Amino acid sequence: MNILIKEEDIRNRIKEIGMEINNDYKNKNPILIGVLKGAFVFLADLLRELNIPVEIDFLGISSYTGTKSSGIVRITQDLSLNIEDRDVILIEDIVDSGRTLDYIVNNLKTRKPRSIAVCTLLNKKDARIIDVPLTYIGFNIPKVFVVGYGLDYDNKFRNLKYIGVYHGE
Ligand code: IMP
Ligand code: MG
Repeated sequence: MNILIKEEDIRNRIKEIGMEINNDYKNKNPILIGVLKGAFVFLADLLRELNIPVEIDFLGISSYTGTKSSGIVRITQDLSLNIEDRDVILIEDIVDSGRTLDYIVNNLKTRKPRSIAVCTLLNKKDARIIDVPLTYIGFNIPKVFVVGYGLDYDNKFRNLKYIGVYHGE
């Protein structure tokens, strides 16, 4: 596995994003919504950099089989909290074509939150098919298939401490 982003670089960048969110949400009480399964590691680390009162929830989504996005998005597990009039920060592992995020944001908007911001650890800018505004971006990466730090290939490699490029090994 080729290492694309080292453990230490991930940690440092998450501290920076945490400081930005602490600053932007001063005197607010946002709900962080992690998109399952990929974002749970990122959410767990980001959460501990926050010093504002936060609540968390999860949304289960399925859109990928193997290394190709199907474009068909399905909710596999819904939120447990009511997000009406709340400040929502959607936590994603990676934005690729943008289809999944577009679907999720449109779905969440129907529940009338006060605001929605998107925070993604990784962004494959050059792969975008649907444009979705991103508020916080950990790293812009090239159009390669990556695993580790929560991201999987066929549900494997989520346990790696770094982000690696998957070549089929
Ligand atoms: P999109 O709908 O094409 O933007 O795909 C987004 C979803 O596909 C992400 O939430 C990931 O779960 C998955 N995904 C996209 N690229 C990768 C990758 O390089 N490695 C692992 N999962 C990926
Ligand atoms: Mg995902």
